[in-house]
Amino acid sequence: MSSSALRENGGQRADLVEMQLDALYQVSQVLSRSADLHEILSDVLHVLHEAADMQRGMVSLLDPSSGELMVGAAHTGHREQLEKVRYRPGEGVVGAILKEGDTLVIRRIADEPRFLDRLRLYVPELPFIGVPIQVGDEAPIGVLAAQPAADDGLLTERARFLEMVANLLAQTVRRAWDLEKERQALTDERDRLRREVRSGYHLDNVVGHSREMRRVFEQVRQVAKWHTTVLIRGETGTGKELIANAIHYNSSRANGPFIKLNCAALPDNLLESELFGHEKGAFTGAVAQRKGRFEQADGGTIFLDEIGEISQAFQAKLLRVLQEGEFERVGGTRTLKVDVRVVAATNRNLEDEVEQGEFREDLYYRLNVMPIFLPALRKRTEDIPDLARFLVGKLARAQGRPLDITDGAIRTLMRHDWPGNVRELENCLERAAIMSETGSIDLDAIQLTGLEEKLPSARKAVAPPPETDLDDPELDERERVIAALEQAGWVQAKAARLLGMTPRQIAYRIQTLKIRVKQF
Ligand SMILES: Nc1ncnc2c1ncn2[C@@H]1O[C@H](COP(=O)(O)OP(=O)(O)OP(=O)(O)O)[C@@H](O)[C@H]1O
Ligand SMILES: [Mg+2]
Repeated sequence: MSSSALRENGGQRADLVEMQLDALYQVSQVLSRSADLHEILSDVLHVLHEAADMQRGMVSLLDPSSGELMVGAAHTGHREQLEKVRYRPGEGVVGAILKEGDTLVIRRIADEPRFLDRLRLYVPELPFIGVPIQVGDEAPIGVLAAQPAADDGLLTERARFLEMVANLLAQTVRRAWDLEKERQALTDERDRLRREVRSGYHLDNVVGHSREMRRVFEQVRQVAKWHTTVLIRGETGTGKELIANAIHYNSSRANGPFIKLNCAALPDNLLESELFGHEKGAFTGAVAQRKGRFEQADGGTIFLDEIGEISQAFQAKLLRVLQEGEFERVGGTRTLKVDVRVVAATNRNLEDEVEQGEFREDLYYRLNVMPIFLPALRKRTEDIPDLARFLVGKLARAQGRPLDITDGAIRTLMRHDWPGNVRELENCLERAAIMSETGSIDLDAIQLTGLEEKLPSARKAVAPPPETDLDDPELDERERVIAALEQAGWVQAKAARLLGMTPRQIAYRIQTLKIRVKQF
């Protein structure tokens, strides 16, 4: 090279460095924007084209699942078309770069035998530079390639520049992949939880085969198909909330939100902002705008528990949402419209309340479109054995140990009148389970919960328990004696006859088996 040519070359190099610095700055700006990876790659290629004289840029990324290279972005060409092009490691020029992990500089791409021209992107007469995209010493995760506008004798410098860009890209791609993996894990987890919640409220988990409960199940199935308002009635602990959940999770809204609000828990003013939300500054303490439960429930179900407890003033406000599906946030003027199914529940006698002028009649009719009555447990004692076993199973899972319940214990449970219904039964069994060291909930464990003291009042209301087969080999001696005593109305002599024993023998067993004899 002559001295003038050298000077010339030196000047060119300085220009190139200047240009590349500017381009690097622009690349760093693109990378610091958080955007979709494809967009970032396209923008970087655009900068290379516009600001660094590196044309027809292309990024191929490894698809970890197939081990193939896919075109992530190219400066020309349509995305859809490019997405079909794949290289195997080692295949073509790009595949070779990925496999070897080395930069490849070709003065004239047309002369390169490995050049496949799959993308029909390159100008055959121009040089080609391809560099691996890799984090540190790890195996390459992709390839960045481009064509300088001409062979100006500075291909080495251009290659070094492209390597710098590739290093920056590597970090970004890795971060995007990690984020994607995390996002995927989170959606999987959300879907799993959703399935779990939904299966928890499957009707299989609402126990009962009595006529009354079968009717409830049929009603739930029916109302789940529609968007009508449902009013669930029943004494405390009969399963109103459980049924409200079952309606939602068995309806077409199951993937939408299920939002619950206990109307008895809040005074009027709080209830209003809780349900309808508020605008910033609507009242002292309203420092920011807030969505109400109705808005949160959009596309899903709102469960208004203890609806019988709301004031007259609030009843009027609620009526409007139920009628029009419209409301304003507290302190707001914009009218909001939502698509929400309302399920309400109460243990009050709303008809009486209407009669006494406590509850608005129009609201009553609005709510009572589809009433579901949950029967008291004492009206369906035949459900107690299944319920008891189901609840014991639930406790066993919660306590992480096997638990079972004896028939004798179940028979005792069936004689109680359960003013607190299923919840009381659940609590009683939980106490009994704690008392039971062996994990078998028997009469003793039930007696220890103090249930016995409440029995006499119950006995009148409840049908006698079904007779146990005294020859049942499953019964242990204690259960057999208790069953006989029960069938004999706790008359020992009669029980002894049933068991083919003498009165003395049964008295002895009652003593040694520590059976507590009931006094009538
Ligand atoms: N049929 C049933 N099968 C299984 N579990 C039930 C059944 N009914 C009620 N339960 C359980 O009993 C407990 C009380 O039920 P829930 O909270 O739904 O009653 P509630 O009617 O809303 O009571 P309250 O009026 O006091 O709010 C819950 O743990 C629920 O899962
Ligand atoms: Mg409840």
